Amino acid sequence: MPKTTHPVVELLGDGIAAELSEAVHLLADLALPCAIEWRPVDLSVANRERRGRAVYDEAVWGIEETGVALKHPTATVKESPNQVLRKLLNLQVIHRPVQTIPGIPTNFKAEVDLDVVRIATGGTYDDPGQLVGGGETAVSLRIVEREACRQAAIFAFDLARKLRKSVTTSSKHTIQKVTDGLFEAVAKEVAKGYPDVPHRVELFDALLAKIVLKPRDFQVCLVLNEYGDFLSDMACGLVGSLGIGASGNYSFDAAGKVRTGLYDAAHGTAPDIAGQGKANPTAIFLAFSLLLFHRGETRAAEAVRHATLDLLREGSCTPDVGGRLSTLEFTRAVAARAQARLAGS
Ligand code: NAI
Repeated sequence: MPKTTHPVVELLGDGIAAELSEAVHLLADLALPCAIEWRPVDLSVANRERRGRAVYDEAVWGIEETGVALKHPTATVKESPNQVLRKLLNLQVIHRPVQTIPGIPTNFKAEVDLDVVRIATGGTYDDPGQLVGGGETAVSLRIVEREACRQAAIFAFDLARKLRKSVTTSSKHTIQKVTDGLFEAVAKEVAKGYPDVPHRVELFDALLAKIVLKPRDFQVCLVLNEYGDFLSDMACGLVGSLGIGASGNYSFDAAGKVRTGLYDAAHGTAPDIAGQGKANPTAIFLAFSLLLFHRGETRAAEAVRHATLDLLREGSCTPDVGGRLSTLEFTRAVAARAQARLAGS
């Protein structure tokens, strides 16, 4: 049977981006039961300086056509490409899975496996505030939009249904009665369409304590912008790493279904190790796994994720996490393990 082909825009970047791109191509070629048609767009500083806005237009056209992109790290010089793309593509929701990464030292003993779904617009972050009353008081607007809440809630409940997990919505709705109250009301309404997905509501301060006490009780957590910012970083702190995770960034159509997905690693361009074959491709593999999952390649997505984590668990990894393998040696090992998983499943 011919392989399914998925066109994917690949946003090339700076520093270790070239090595990560080579690694992800090799992994796809060696291990996947589907084919990836890479459509590269060069977002490196040099090309951004040369082409200006045209390079972003090229990226946006490509992503609107394919519906998905894998983004490599880019240096922030004048503008942050992540921020520019978020605006141009209207990326409203960030999905950040945070899981215990074997081999990464952490002060926290319990296993964490959380999916933070964050409304990436509004809250208090759209308004820096202003001084009033002769500078004696500062005030800011807090914006919660029904449509953004609805899209994020549909995303969270769809995700939980696919993963057979529960959804916790969390806010301070007892104090921020109107703003957070609107968010909880919309989430409750959306939850009615998912009677098979358990849903609970927690106050956000209590949620933080409960996640630390009993992380296993929480799975998909749906939150407003600033709460998502705090929760993602706290969860990353629990697993000992801000850099090894990945995220999916989404825009939606009028029916609330995903229109475009942009996937990236949390770390930066690591200029100190660029070109030395030492880059750890774990985060970009996890980002690629999210992309495959979104494209319906569930078995391939799981194989890539588990193969990567298995090797880390065994200590077969790159030097930054205590191993001795080069980027390409680690990639070949992940590909072989993913292939074995796919053959066995
Ligand atoms: P960084 O994440 O690039 O590096 C911090 C430390 O982690 C360095 O020692 C680096 O060698 C190491 N590191 C990071 N990723 C690694 C990997 N995959 N394998 C092995 N070691 C890794 O953060 P930094 O130094 O603050 O930023 C460098 C550049 O990256 C800046 O220009 C910044 O603007 C950009 N950046 C881009 C991001 C993106 O495109 N999503 C995110 C964060 C930073």
